[in-house]
Amino acid sequence: MDALDRARRQSWYHTLELPGLTTQGIFDLRPYVHHYGLPASLAGRRVLEIGTWDGFWAFELERRGAAEVVALDLDDEAALDWPPRRRPASFPDVRRGAGFELARELLGSNVRRVVRSVYAATPEELGGPFDLVLCGSVLIHLRDQLLALERIAALTAPGGLFVSAEGYERPLDLLLPGRPLPRRPRRRGGLLVALAAGLAADAGLRRL
Ligand SMILES: C[S@@+](CC[C@H](N)C(=O)[O-])C[C@H]1O[C@@H](n2cnc3c(N)ncnc32)[C@H](O)[C@@H]1O
Repeated sequence: MDALDRARRQSWYHTLELPGLTTQGIFDLRPYVHHYGLPASLAGRRVLEIGTWDGFWAFELERRGAAEVVALDLDDEAALDWPPRRRPASFPDVRRGAGFELARELLGSNVRRVVRSVYAATPEELGGPFDLVLCGSVLIHLRDQLLALERIAALTAPGGLFVSAEGYERPLDLLLPGRPLPRRPRRRGGLLVALAAGLAADAGLRRL
């Protein structure tokens, strides 16, 4: 079976425009790209995406001309930070990176996917710090957000840019500062903006 046939049978997290196929992803982020404040050109830049899944952002960063794109993720869903009450009893027998690899092949992409937790990601092991680090909808799923932000601070070159996009609870942020968030059935609550900003500052990230 060729790559396009395999892509047609693949379950997709991201809607991706691939040659010969636009995938039916659970999330179509195309209308939101302009909200992320990404530089129009990343020519000559070294960039990192954390938690890439099918690679929507990594491929977008490459499309903007980055000299090198590294994309981190884990393959094994059992290795994710499931809160004890929501940890599934069993996990699907599919690797998280399968869609990414198909897309990479079809796009003729050079994005390098590295199977590593953000907790263990260091500039020493990833070829040095990055001019831009993008992390979207990952921190809300992590148990140790401060450790992740410390790793991100070390991975961002001096003068570099960290682009963070996370779900947050706007009404609760305004109404209930400092109060625990209600539990949602499928995910943790969003970050509170003040808390996220405080954690980022504690991790050494300077607000621009
Ligand atoms: C909700 S998805 C977001 C995917 C993509 N970043 C986006 O914005 O659409 C979260 C991603 O983070 C990854 N992830 C979760 N924990 C991680 C960790 N400790 N290190 C690296 N990636 C992680 C998941 O495997 C998944 O691909």
